[in-house]
Amino acid sequence: MHHTILVTGGAGFIGSNFVHMLAEIRPEARVVNLDALTYAGNLENLEPVAKNARHRFVHGDITKPEDVEKAFQEAKGLGGQLFVVHFAAESHVDRSIVSGTPFVTTNVVGTQILLDASRRHGVEKFVHVSTDEVYGSLGDTGLFTEETPLAPNSPYSASKAGSDLLVRAAVHTHGFPACITRCSNNYGPYQFPEKFLPLMIANATEGKSIPVYGDGMYVRDWLYVRDHCEAILAVLEKGQVGEAYNIGGNNELANLVLVRHVLRELGKPESLITYVKDRPGHDRRYAIDATKIRRELGWSPRFTFAEALPLTIRWYATHSGWLQRVRSGAYREYYARQYGAS
Ligand code: NAD
Ligand code: TYD
Repeated sequence: MHHTILVTGGAGFIGSNFVHMLAEIRPEARVVNLDALTYAGNLENLEPVAKNARHRFVHGDITKPEDVEKAFQEAKGLGGQLFVVHFAAESHVDRSIVSGTPFVTTNVVGTQILLDASRRHGVEKFVHVSTDEVYGSLGDTGLFTEETPLAPNSPYSASKAGSDLLVRAAVHTHGFPACITRCSNNYGPYQFPEKFLPLMIANATEGKSIPVYGDGMYVRDWLYVRDHCEAILAVLEKGQVGEAYNIGGNNELANLVLVRHVLRELGKPESLITYVKDRPGHDRRYAIDATKIRRELGWSPRFTFAEALPLTIRWYATHSGWLQRVRSGAYREYYARQYGAS
């Protein structure tokens, strides 16, 4: 029997990559893609599946039960076993510092509404896509494991931790068949250029300065988006109900080191680096121990940073129209507010 997968947030960065991957490696699967098309959602990201009869887009908001119901009706109409992969979220830390309420609304309330509907419709499995940021910040050593206590520091990560706890409660209280994934920072095609990597690629390409927060020695564990998507699929197909899985590629880089890699790839000077005011409450270091998903589900990343960074840079170079359209409009207003003062 075929599977029908209700994907939320599939017009965003990781969700669109996941939908493209399904079309490629699970072509028999039906996909219903529920997305509110916020500033981060872009229908252009779905062009590769626009003519695919197995992909249906539903414009709707996870905080509105009637929109969620519409998506479930669409999914049920496609038959087969029903699965949910939940990406939809407000996802940018800096925006959450400016205003936390939309994060609570979508990430916390929206997730509960989706859980309630998923339970009513008897889904086979629900994968909640979360983040390593729920664990808080590390010092110079150590890695996040699934046993690390949740200690979120930003309104973004606090709202994601809240949604993780609601998923946990649904499993515990109702025997709801959910798994949680917690991945480190992603990079790759279709990432909205408010996030650091596409922002620096876009700025450096245009010869503009690259804003580096604080001393630039903040460490992130970078994973190519396709590897993240494959990990989510492994959890969807093989994950133990009630379990959380960390996802990461042992690729820790200080922000300054990352910038230097990108500048070298693009043949741009280091003089573009501009130190700006630090992010309030900035988490110093994230690093993932992904032993559990490697051992139990047989997942491991297929792309090295040395391969995937040039791939990513090439993608943005060959999609300059996409980048230009995204960089106009709402993005510009936000950009001025965020960087205008520095
Ligand atoms: P994104 O901001 O690029 O995309 C989010 C998508 O969700 C957009 O298409 C947006 O329109 C949609 N959306 C927002 N609010 C909605 C609502 N109320 N109803 C329906 N749709 C709504 O985010 P992303 O980077 O692709 O992240 C996807 C998920 O992965 C998020 O849950 C995020 O917390 C998690 N995550 C991201 C990273 C990363 O590095 N980007 C790492 C780990 C986990
Ligand atoms: P970001 O891409 O926002 O992801 P997250 O905060 O969720 O890890 O930022 C990645 C790192 O880059 C983080 O340490 C903050 C830093 N950063 C900058 O130095 N300058 C910038 O303009 C941005 C957006 C981020």
